[in-house]
Amino acid sequence: MTQLHFQRHRRLRQSTGMRAMVKETYLHKEDFIYPIFVAEGENIKNEVASMPGVFQLSLDNLGAELDEIVALGIPAVILFGLPAEKDAIGSGAYHDHGIIQKATRYAKEHHPELLVVADTCLCEYTDHGHCGVVEGEQILNDPSLNLLAQTAISQAKAGADIIAPSNMMDGFVAAIRAGLDEAGFAHIPIMSYAVKYASGYYGPFREAADGAPKFGDRKTYQMDPSNRLEAMREAASDVEEGADFLIVKPALAYMDIIRDVKNNFALPVVAYNVSGEYAMVKAAAINGWIDEKAVVMETLLGMKRAGADLIITYHAKDAARWLEEK
Ligand code: PBG
Ligand code: ZN
Repeated sequence: MTQLHFQRHRRLRQSTGMRAMVKETYLHKEDFIYPIFVAEGENIKNEVASMPGVFQLSLDNLGAELDEIVALGIPAVILFGLPAEKDAIGSGAYHDHGIIQKATRYAKEHHPELLVVADTCLCEYTDHGHCGVVEGEQILNDPSLNLLAQTAISQAKAGADIIAPSNMMDGFVAAIRAGLDEAGFAHIPIMSYAVKYASGYYGPFREAADGAPKFGDRKTYQMDPSNRLEAMREAASDVEEGADFLIVKPALAYMDIIRDVKNNFALPVVAYNVSGEYAMVKAAAINGWIDEKAVVMETLLGMKRAGADLIITYHAKDAARWLEEK
C-alpha cells in the first residue's frame, strides 16, 4: 500500500478531558452586559413581541429583575429608557429625574456592586426619533454634542458607572469626555459605540425602546455595512478622543470588524449582540428548529473567538444559567 502522509488531528479530540486541555476560548458570565428597558409609569411588565423573554419594566418591577441578574452573577446592565413624554430636543435624556436617572439611582442604591452602563443617546427621547437634533430633514452634528454631554453628566450624577454613547455624531466622545471631566467625573469611563452600522438588525430594539425614526433613516450618521476601513477610522478617532472601551455593533454580520478592532487597538472590545440577532434565534428556537442552548452558546463563543472581551446580549441571563449547569 502507498505510504499516506497526514496529520492526526483527532488525537486531541478523543475525550472530554483531552478536548478540555486544548480548549482555546472560554465564555464566562463576567463577560456579559445585560440590556434592560425601563419605562416611566407603574406596574408595567410588557413583553416585547419580537423579543420573547425581554420586557419593558417600570421602576416598581426593576427590583426583581436586578435581584435575578445579581444572583446569576452577571456583573453589569445597560439601561435604555422609555420616557413619559418626548420633545424635539430630547429633554428627557438629560433631566435629573429622567427615567434612566431614576433607574440608575434605584439600581445603585439596591445593588451598589452591580455596574450600571448608561446608554447615552437622544433617539428614545426625541419626538422625531433621531439620535441628534434636527433641522428640517437634517440631523445636525455639532448642536447635538452639548445635549449628549449634558445627558452623560446627568447619568454620571445619578450614579452610572460607565457612559455608553450610541449616537454616532462626530466628536461625541470628545464632547462627553470634556463634559464629564469638567463636572468632576474624570474617573467615569466611556464605552463608545465606536463602530456602529446602519443595520436592519435593530428592528426589534426600536419596538422595545420605542425609538424608530419618524422620517428618513440613520444612514447619514451610522455606518455603511460595506465598509471596513471606515470602521478603523471611527475606532481611531474615538481612541484619540478618550474612549475606554470600543463597541462593535451589530456583532454577527461583523465578526471581521470585531477582529480588526481587537488587533488594531489596545482597548477592551465589546460586541453588541443586537435585538435582531436575538429575535432570529428565539423565533427558530420557539419553533423547535434549533437547539437554543447550543446555538446561543456557540454564537457567544464565536464573538469571543472573534476578539470580543465583553458581550452586550439579551441572552445573558440564559447563558449565565447554562454556564452554571456544566
Ligand atoms: C439607539 C440604539 C439602538 C440600539 C442601541 N442603541 C438603535 C438604533 O441605533 O437604531 C440597538 C440595539 C439593539 O438592536 O439591540 N441609539
Ligand atoms: Zn440613538
